[in-house]
Amino acid sequence: MEKELLIYIDGKYYPKSQAKVSVYDHGLLYGDGVFEGIRAYNSVVFKLKEHIDRLYRSARVIMLQIPLTKEEMIKAVLETLQKNNLRDAYIRLVVTRGVGDLGLDPRKCPKPTVIIITDIIKLHSGEAKEKGIRAMIVWVKRDPVDATSHEVKSLNYLNSILGKIEANIAGCDEAICLDKNGHISEGVAENLFIVQNGKVITPPTSTGALVGITRDVVMKTAEKIGYKTVEKTITPTDLFTADEAFFTGTAAEIIPIVEVNKRMTGDGKPGPITRRLMQEFEKIVRDPKEGIPIYQ
Ligand SMILES: Cc1ncc(COP(=O)(O)O)c(C=O)c1O
Repeated sequence: MEKELLIYIDGKYYPKSQAKVSVYDHGLLYGDGVFEGIRAYNSVVFKLKEHIDRLYRSARVIMLQIPLTKEEMIKAVLETLQKNNLRDAYIRLVVTRGVGDLGLDPRKCPKPTVIIITDIIKLHSGEAKEKGIRAMIVWVKRDPVDATSHEVKSLNYLNSILGKIEANIAGCDEAICLDKNGHISEGVAENLFIVQNGKVITPPTSTGALVGITRDVVMKTAEKIGYKTVEKTITPTDLFTADEAFFTGTAAEIIPIVEVNKRMTGDGKPGPITRRLMQEFEKIVRDPKEGIPIYQ
C-alpha cells in the first residue's frame, strides 16, 4: 500500500486520512483565518520567506496571533516536506482562529490552529500553458480594500468561488474579477497582466487584488530583461484590446490568456513577451538563491 502523506497540525503529524480539525474551529464556521499556497521546485521552497512574511502580515490585519515565530514556521514547513520526502511540492499553510463556540466572537478562540499540508499539484495542463486559456469577466466584484479584500490572504474565498462558478457555467477556463469601479482587479487565484505596445501592465492592489508574490517576480523579471512595467488601472476595453494578456500565481505560474469574453486576445496565441517571461520564470523558480532548501 502507498504510504499516506503526513499532515502537520499544531506540532504533531497525522496521516492524511486522520488529519482532522474540530467542527467548532472558526476557520470552518466563519472562514476566520489566513493561508498561503507555496511551491517547492527541485528541493528548494521558492520564495518561502516572502510567503511567511505575507502570512504574518495577513494575520496582523485580522488580529490573529500566530503561535509560532517566523523562524519556527519556516522550520515546521521544511520538516513537513522532509517527513514526506518531497522535492517538488505544493504547500498549503493554514492558520485558523481555532476552536471557539458557535458565536463568531474571536475572543472565544484561545488557540489558533496551524496546519501544514505538503502535496503535489497540477493546476493547468501543459496544453493550457502551450495554447493559452479562455477567460471571462464575471459579474461578481472583487471585495473592496475596505472590506474582505484579497490584499489579505484570508480563508474567505467565497468571492473568488462565485467568480469560478460563473466561468464554469459559461464553459470558460478562468474568471476575471472587476473592482467596484469597473476596473480589472485579478483572476480568482491569480494576478492579471496585459502587454500593450511592449509595456507590461498590471492593476494596482487598490483594486482589491492580492499582493502576489509571482506578480512581483514577473514585474522585476520584465524590467530586468528590458520591458517597462507599469502598475495602473486597466479597463475592460484595455483588456479586450491588449496585445497580450496572462495570469500569474504560485499554483498557476504564468498562464497566457488568449480570449476574454469571446474576444480574441492579440492573434489568439500566447504572445512573444508572455512566452519570454514564461521561459525566464522557469529558470528563476529553479534557482536555489530564490528560496530555502528543504534538505540542508
Ligand atoms: C486572489 C489571489 N490573487 C492572486 C494570487 C497569486 O498570488 P501568488 O503569486 O502570491 O501566489 C493568489 C494566489 O495565491 C490569489 O489567491
